[in-house]
Amino acid sequence: MSVRRTKVAIIGSGPAGLMLGHLLRAEGIDCLILERQDREYVESRIRAGVLETTTTDLMHRLGIDARMDSEGLIEDGFNLADGDQLVRIDIKALTGKHVTVYGQTELTRDLIAAAPERDLEIVFQAGDLKLHDVDSARPSVTFVKDGLAQTIEADFIAGCDGFHGPSRRAIPASLAREYTQEYPFGWLGILADVPPCHDELIYANGPRGFALASMRSPTRSRYYIQVPRGEKLEDWPEARLWDELDGRFNPLSNHGVTRGPALEMSIAPLRSYVFETMRHGRLFLAGDAAHIVPPTGAKGLNLAASDIAYLSDALIGYYGRNDDSGLLHYQERALSRIWKAERFSWTLTRLMHSFPGQSPFERRMQIAELDYLAQSMAMQTAIAENYVGLPL
Ligand code: APR
Ligand code: PHB
Repeated sequence: MSVRRTKVAIIGSGPAGLMLGHLLRAEGIDCLILERQDREYVESRIRAGVLETTTTDLMHRLGIDARMDSEGLIEDGFNLADGDQLVRIDIKALTGKHVTVYGQTELTRDLIAAAPERDLEIVFQAGDLKLHDVDSARPSVTFVKDGLAQTIEADFIAGCDGFHGPSRRAIPASLAREYTQEYPFGWLGILADVPPCHDELIYANGPRGFALASMRSPTRSRYYIQVPRGEKLEDWPEARLWDELDGRFNPLSNHGVTRGPALEMSIAPLRSYVFETMRHGRLFLAGDAAHIVPPTGAKGLNLAASDIAYLSDALIGYYGRNDDSGLLHYQERALSRIWKAERFSWTLTRLMHSFPGQSPFERRMQIAELDYLAQSMAMQTAIAENYVGLPL
């Protein structure tokens, strides 16, 4: 058994863990990241791709921004559609801000690539990880790497291990409260090297349900459609999905849907979830470990980044100025922003999807809401300011 000591043991090398590790190392604070998967697996996971300025600001602060700045697409607007009515939300005119389309996969790769030169250690394939004594003054993490049992003793543990990781479970259920909302559908996604059908994103609702036209670059498209919960990928040959996308986007888009071989296809369930509390003793949760949003509105990665902005500030204050107020207020600050993003993604999900058993009245409410949005600058501004991200 080998035993090492560090200041902050970070569990998980998703965007939350990687950003935290880099921000701490930039201040000279000892930390390391423990990741269950191998590097290739982490770098190839396909996830969403819309970054708020709160997220791009963090990458700029770290100086890990060259590829994001050159390859990211600046989007000044996006579109909401119902049937053949398309409403453009001019986020630049309404908020003075923009969003950047840059895949989470690319951002993760950039953060991992920059780790060695910044002396940020990432232990991949750390198996059977367990947290110990998190509510004591001497918390620790044990894991097995290459058959060797290892212990990391730390001042603090950052649980950045996603929805299925062990950190949240280290908090006694009696001290926490869970809020869950399941949706009766998932998103079937396809990534393909074909030009996007439209210059900006389109979130579309209609008689056949929700569809999203997104992109990664001028030559790479990302599309999603709503499918019933429990649907299998085998039921979706590529041609069936392209037919569906044609039907939904050809009437709405500038360029029409171009087909091409799938680089990736996957189905993800939709869920809203918040775990309150985000702190137990010396364990702090951040990102998907503590909350999940449905992908409508692309808030998942951006919330992970804002949690990390608060948590890194708190730890830097603690080590740099002996000030523990950031740690004391972490949960309150983070949850205030999380609940607003939960509200936004839930509202947008309800507005844009077909719900099984939805009454004709409820369907008319969706149409009326979009119609109202089309005429109301006040409502467009409210949507735009949430889409670009509320202030930290
Ligand atoms: N031991 C070590 N690492 C673990 C363990 C474990 N037992 N369990 C999970 N992990 C790792 C996962 O392999 C993953 O790399 O924790 C990491 C968590 O990363 P994410 O799931 O990407 O979560 P987070 O960093 O909070 O980022 C949130 O990712 O899931 C998307 O939509 C979500 O965009 C959001 C963002
Ligand atoms: C994506 O491009 O993958 C994407 C964009 C916007 C969303 C969700 C996903 O709301």
